[in-house]
Amino acid sequence: MQCVLVLANGASWESAALGALQRSRDFVVLKRCVDIADLMASATTGQADHAVVALDTPGLDRIATEHVRRFRVRLVGVNAASAGREGDSIHEVAQWATRLGFASVVGVGEVDRLPTVLAADDTSAHLDAEPPAHIEHSVDPGTSAGAGRVIAVWGPAGAPGRTTVAIGLTAALARRRLRTVLLDADPWGGSVAQQLGVLDEVSGLLAAARLHGTGSLSERFGGVCRGLEEFAGVVTGLPRPDRWQEVRPGVIEEVLCLARGVGTVVVDTGFSLEQDGTVELSGRSGRNTMTIEAVANADVVVVVAHPDPVGLTRLANGLTELDEISPGSPRIVVLNRMRQTLGWSAGEVVAMTKGLIGPSVRAVLVLPEDRRAVDAAVAGGRFVADGPLVKALANVADALVPESAAGAGRTLRRRTAGRAHQR
Ligand SMILES: Nc1ncnc2c1ncn2[C@@H]1O[C@H](COP(=O)(O)OP(=O)(O)OP(=O)(O)O)[C@@H](O)[C@H]1O
Ligand SMILES: [Mg+2]
Repeated sequence: MQCVLVLANGASWESAALGALQRSRDFVVLKRCVDIADLMASATTGQADHAVVALDTPGLDRIATEHVRRFRVRLVGVNAASAGREGDSIHEVAQWATRLGFASVVGVGEVDRLPTVLAADDTSAHLDAEPPAHIEHSVDPGTSAGAGRVIAVWGPAGAPGRTTVAIGLTAALARRRLRTVLLDADPWGGSVAQQLGVLDEVSGLLAAARLHGTGSLSERFGGVCRGLEEFAGVVTGLPRPDRWQEVRPGVIEEVLCLARGVGTVVVDTGFSLEQDGTVELSGRSGRNTMTIEAVANADVVVVVAHPDPVGLTRLANGLTELDEISPGSPRIVVLNRMRQTLGWSAGEVVAMTKGLIGPSVRAVLVLPEDRRAVDAAVAGGRFVADGPLVKALANVADALVPESAAGAGRTLRRRTAGRAHQR
């Protein structure tokens, strides 16, 4: 007996499809999904063998289909007469579905044949998807099994390298074939898009904020999160710092929830955790609401600091502030831009830091100053490709997702400098 997920998007063919599957006795309908996010989350349980999906479902895109296929769920599309993007013929929609990884496509009048089609898919060799991402095996500071992990990258004032570390960590995880979503949630001016050469003018975060407002974010999350590399996607941040007010309370929380369904989530945040006392009364965002929501919803916080006297003092104060927002939540401290001219060794600075911090910090790791690699990456609009920083970032990835360490080493396709990245 094989299990089937059905996502009919409210179409009238659903009852005929359910009837045909029930009659066949070879298939059982595991769940009728309400939207793409529901389908993606249901696939991660590992119980489904097939998904029957309406091809006109909002948010149906490659990220969604790749996610589902990685959990070894075979996709069958149902092609309604008006399916797909406006103006497309049924034939074009079927071709589009094949490109997305659908094993078969049936017309709405053919859903009676679904058991035969599913059985044929089962024996065909179309399933070239990778085994499921190792999300469910990663360090477990307490989320429900199988869900994606949220890693918030935070650090106090002084530009200690939050964005550099968040991008570098995303690259390190994607290099390990872990599906990773990078979210730019810095309310003081996001720079992820610029650093990665994502040139489009649509901010993923502002789009998410608008969709959150209309209650349709879950349906259209695929359009908010754009593909970067084979295993990495990005939700770009604020195009201008003054637009932080458009991101209402609850937006970051919903984006994180949806991104968890895609894979591991890395969040770049702002420096300040100061709470605005009027937020709860007014229902409006405070300036730091984005950062606070990211940190409060994270499974682990990577705290980035400069390994110098000012940086370490700010680190100690920052950890106290973090305690107020997420008491006892797991943390990893990353001392970034370590260099000989500071006058102390990496071992000495780690020992000093350990004396400053409490038991919720699991590890203290050091990243070297690597001007050459960082400059080349920023100038080329791509991930840091090689050098000491990449090697040290791998240690941070090991600490966060130890089970992925064995799979490390696969190189990412280099991205073309300055290119706008479209899925
Ligand atoms: N390991 C490193 N080696 C060399 N340069 C680095 C390193 N990490 C960060 N930098 C540089 O330091 C500067 C600040 O880094 P980044 O933008 O990542 O910091 P931030 O904490 O996100 O700052 P902001 O407050 O502006 O968001 C950038 O010019 C970046 O290229
Ligand atoms: Mg930054």
